[in-house]
Amino acid sequence: MKKRYTITAALPYANGPIHIGHLAGAYIPADIYSRYLRSMEKDIVFICGSDEHGAAIAIRAKKEGVSPQKIIDKYHLMIKNSFSDFGISFDNYSRTSSKIHHQTASLFFKELYDKNTFIEKETEQLYDSKENQFLADRYVEGECPKCHFKEAYGDQCEKCGSTLNPIDLINPKSKLSGNKPSLKKTKHWFLPLNNFEDFLKKWFLKEKKSDWKTNVFGQVKSWINEGLKPRAITRDIDWGIPVPLKDAIGKVLYVWFDAPIGYISSTIEWAEKEKVDWKPYWQDPNTELVHFIGKDNIVFHCIIFPSILKASEKYILPSNVPANEFLNLEGEKISTSKNWAIWLDDYMKDFPEMQDTLRYVLTANAPETKDNDFTWKDFQAKNNNELVAIFGNFINRVAVLTEKYYDGLTPQISAFNKEEENLLNEVYSYPEKIGKSLEKFEFRKAVNKMIDLARIGNKYLADKEPWKIIKTPNVEKVKTIMNISIQICGILALVCEPFLPNTSKKLKEQFNISNTNWNSINKDNPIISTKIKKSNLIFRKIENEEIDFQLEKLQKSKK
Ligand code: 2FM
Ligand code: ZN
Repeated sequence: MKKRYTITAALPYANGPIHIGHLAGAYIPADIYSRYLRSMEKDIVFICGSDEHGAAIAIRAKKEGVSPQKIIDKYHLMIKNSFSDFGISFDNYSRTSSKIHHQTASLFFKELYDKNTFIEKETEQLYDSKENQFLADRYVEGECPKCHFKEAYGDQCEKCGSTLNPIDLINPKSKLSGNKPSLKKTKHWFLPLNNFEDFLKKWFLKEKKSDWKTNVFGQVKSWINEGLKPRAITRDIDWGIPVPLKDAIGKVLYVWFDAPIGYISSTIEWAEKEKVDWKPYWQDPNTELVHFIGKDNIVFHCIIFPSILKASEKYILPSNVPANEFLNLEGEKISTSKNWAIWLDDYMKDFPEMQDTLRYVLTANAPETKDNDFTWKDFQAKNNNELVAIFGNFINRVAVLTEKYYDGLTPQISAFNKEEENLLNEVYSYPEKIGKSLEKFEFRKAVNKMIDLARIGNKYLADKEPWKIIKTPNVEKVKTIMNISIQICGILALVCEPFLPNTSKKLKEQFNISNTNWNSINKDNPIISTKIKKSNLIFRKIENEEIDFQLEKLQKSKK
C-alpha cells in the first residue's frame, strides 16, 4: 500500500497580497516536498486555503471603509492567483468563510465542549469605550512584557514570538481609537493548555521530536518547560464563526481556533470533489501529517492545535512541522506597513515567465535554520551564474550539438569504458541523494545538488570538447559523449521538477521524456531521449539595468 501524507501550508490571511517572504517561508518548501512525494508515487494531499477571520481582517475592512467580506473576496482571489502563477500545486485551495469550514469548525468546538474540554470563565478584558468594543488580538497594541518590543499585538509578539493576552501588554493602546483601554468583564471559553502539559511533554519532548528542526524543537521545548496557561478560544468581535452555544450571542471563535481546522475542512472539500474518503488523511495513524509554516506560527502548530487534536481523540498529530525562519529583504525586515516587500503580483509584471528563477533563488537562499536575506544582486547572480551559465548552458549545448551532429537523434552506444561507467554511476546517484535531502527538509542542500548535477554535465562537455573531435578519426567518441550528456539532461529534467516545475515541463517536452517517476531513474533504465526538439533557451540573463530598476522601485515605494 502506498504511504499516505497530508501536507498543509499555513493558511494566509486574506487581508493583503502575498510577498516573497510568504513564498520562501512556507509555500515553496511545501510545494517542493509535495511534488517530490507525488513523483515517488505516494498517496498525498496538499492542502491550503485563505484564513478569512480574525481581527486583522476586520481592522483592514474598517480602515478601507468596506465590509470584511469585500476584503476577503478581493484578497482570496489575488492570493489564489499568485499561488497558481508560481506553480504551488495545492490539491485544494479553500477558504475559511466557506460553509463547509463553518460547519466543520463549529462541530469541532461543539464536540470538545460536550466532552467538557473547555473552561468557561468571566474575566476582565480590555475595552474601548469610545468604540464600544472589546479589544481582542490585533485590536490592541502595546509593549511586550517579555522582550519589551513596543508594537506587540494583543495575542502575539512578532519580535520574540511569545503568545500574549491583551491584558499582559504594557501601555496598551486601542487600534481603533488610539485611546487607552478600560477593563470590562466578559465571559469566554478557554482551552486549559495546562491540562495538556503531560501529553505535550510525552509527545513532543520524549518521543521522536528531537529529529525535528532545531529552531522548532528549541522554541517548543522552552514554551512547554515555562509552563502553559489556559487560553481563550472565543472572542467578542463581530467577524468570525459564531460560537455554537445558546449563551454566546455576539461571540465568535478565536481565529487561531478555527484556522487550523481549516486544513481539515479543505481536505473534506477536496475529498468531496475527488469522491474519496477524507478520514484516512486525518485519522489513520499511518498517515504522516506535515505542516509547513513560518516561525511566527510555531506555537499554534506545535502546542495549541496538537492539544485540540489530542482532545478530540480522533485525529492524528503532526509528524513534523518544518517551520522556516524569516526572510529579510536588502538587510531589512519585510514589512507590509512600510511597503518593504516584493509582492508577487508585481514580480509577475516585471519578470513574466521567470517564476522558476524566483523559486530557485528562494530555495537556494531559504531561511531554513536562521533568518536570511534576499537581495536583488544575489537574485541576479544566482540566475546568471547558476541557472543561465551552468544549467541552461549545458542543456542548450547538448540540444544544439545533437541537432547538428545527429539531426536531434540520440546516438546509440553498445558499451561504455570504465571512466564512463563511473560517471554514469555518479550522475544516476543524484536522484537518491536529492531525495534524501528533501526527506530531511533540507531544501537548500537538495537544490544545490541539482545544480551540482548540471555542473557535472557542463564540465564533462567542456572537458571532452566534442566539437574538436567531430572532424577527426575519433569521431565515434562523440557519440558516447553526446549519449551520456543526453542522459544527464534527462535526469535533470526529472529531478528539477519539484524546484523548477516549468523548466521541467519544457525539458520533458524538448527531450521527449514521459517518465515522471523518481524511483525509476537508474542506470539500468537509462533516460534516453528519442528525438530532441529544437527549443529556445530555457533561462535568460538578467541585465544590470533591470536590477537597478528594482532597487530604485523598492526605495521609492517605501513608506
Ligand atoms: O500567520 C498567518 O498568516 C495565519 N493566517 C496562519 C494560519 S495557519 C493555520 F493554522 F491556518
Ligand atoms: Zn516580545
